[in-house]
Amino acid sequence: MSDTIAPLSQRPAWKALTAHAATLKQNLRELFAADPERGTRFTAEAEGIFLDYSKNRITEETLQLLLQLAKESGLAEHREAMFTGQKINTTENRAVLHVALRAPRSESILVDGEDVVPAVHEVLDKMSAFADKVRAGKWLGYTGKPIRNVVNIGIGGSDLGPVMAYEALRHYSQRDLSFHFVSNVDGTDFVEAVHDLDPEETLFLVASKTFTTLETMTNAHSARAWTLAKLKQTEAIANHFVAISTNEKEVSKFGIDTANMFGFWDWVGGRYSMDSAIGLSTMIAIGPDNFRAMLDGFYAMDVHFRTAPLEKNLPALMGLLTVWYTDFFDAQTVAILPYEQYLKRFPAYLQQLTMESNGKHVTLDGTHVEAETGPIYWGEPGTNGQHSFYQLIHQGTRLIPCDFIGFSKSINPLGRHHGMLMANVFAQAEALAFGKTAEQVKAEGVADALVPHKVFEGNRPSNVLLAEELTPRLLGSLIALYEHNVFTQGVIWSINSFDQWGVELGKVLATNILKELESTTPPELKHDSSTNNLIQRYLATKA
Ligand code: F6P
Repeated sequence: MSDTIAPLSQRPAWKALTAHAATLKQNLRELFAADPERGTRFTAEAEGIFLDYSKNRITEETLQLLLQLAKESGLAEHREAMFTGQKINTTENRAVLHVALRAPRSESILVDGEDVVPAVHEVLDKMSAFADKVRAGKWLGYTGKPIRNVVNIGIGGSDLGPVMAYEALRHYSQRDLSFHFVSNVDGTDFVEAVHDLDPEETLFLVASKTFTTLETMTNAHSARAWTLAKLKQTEAIANHFVAISTNEKEVSKFGIDTANMFGFWDWVGGRYSMDSAIGLSTMIAIGPDNFRAMLDGFYAMDVHFRTAPLEKNLPALMGLLTVWYTDFFDAQTVAILPYEQYLKRFPAYLQQLTMESNGKHVTLDGTHVEAETGPIYWGEPGTNGQHSFYQLIHQGTRLIPCDFIGFSKSINPLGRHHGMLMANVFAQAEALAFGKTAEQVKAEGVADALVPHKVFEGNRPSNVLLAEELTPRLLGSLIALYEHNVFTQGVIWSINSFDQWGVELGKVLATNILKELESTTPPELKHDSSTNNLIQRYLATKA
């Protein structure tokens, strides 16, 4: 398909956008003054999420050109290729079908001629039965005690999604169960996670697509040793360990009964897997019904992305705006600013989703991409960020597009808290867009010397995403919105958003260096002088 798509710089809309960006001189203050309807016109809504994108540096012409760019880049065709199970992850020769994970039973999606939807629901049913048993205190540990603690061991997509979703939906979780997440190969992570736990009441979910990831397997072996130190008998493993993986062989090699394995498929990328069996911890926490509601939210946004016209299509609009700032304004980052404490891990989750997907420098045909790709995503929940890094967003020299995420209703209404929280969302977006001129500062009687310091230039773009309440369904829609936003960006840049070769080199080098660190005789070091020196220093000073 990419054969028919012209290189980025040759697409007419790209050329037109380049010229247009150079002539777009009006700032947001002027754009709003010239058009009283702007704040209601540049909005779109789907699946309970209202997107106000009016405070972006765009005009109607910008929008039309961006939509034209989407068409010339084959967004509709690529989107259809993904939804119909074509092997769009070309470097790994795989379909990209996280959308099948939330497809209703009645749908059918073919991969290599086989409908994958029945298998998805088979696993969901198995997960539901298991989750219900644990939640009811009927899944017993080896000594007959009910499970009270669930520890998910995984890393990357096998950790960030589960931990984010657990935190996001904690309100809906069963409070007599405790949940813990171990990811880092730093032993401290494991030791602290199990510090107060009793092995007799603890269940480990070993979550790894490949079941070979160094960090996860090391932590899983430590968990096994910790469990057996108290329970002694290897048969105990069956009661205290389940596996979530695509690799049956490695699971049984580890000693986990494959009857206690929850599978998924190579067409689910790690960073797109939180709604597969990888979400088992989420399902145990919030229950199968809430998990299904979350899947329904994902699905509803999938349908919106697939069918809504591009000018009303939330993921497409957000993706195009990110391309606009990344490539025409040299913006290097996107700040994710959820004004919802339960979404505290959402920025960290989005970091893998966005940066592992679009941190690519070659196009699908292997040539160097002609524009900047994958911006750096980062952020913190509001209002904490306001007392830390917002100074730079308001008055620094860099352009940082922001996504504010807020809710009309608080899950924990407490006095005036929620009004104060939301007043800050609206105020921050307003301040960034419109700033404060020197005239306004002077009119406040500020001394001349201080005026430049108190000026806010404004013209700093943001999206505001406003929803009613953080429910499981809403969370699903919100995540799918960003998944498809990332997809849209990748299509414009003609890159493969679904491989991650960039993580390989470091893994290989670390394996070799580990042999040197663990050598019983002084190793013969053949690295560069810096690496040799660091290793020698480490070996000389370690205990
Ligand atoms: O960091 C590379 C990566 O392959 C991610 O894409 C993935 O989410 C993570 O490692 C964990 O992989 P696995 O689930 O196979 O342990």
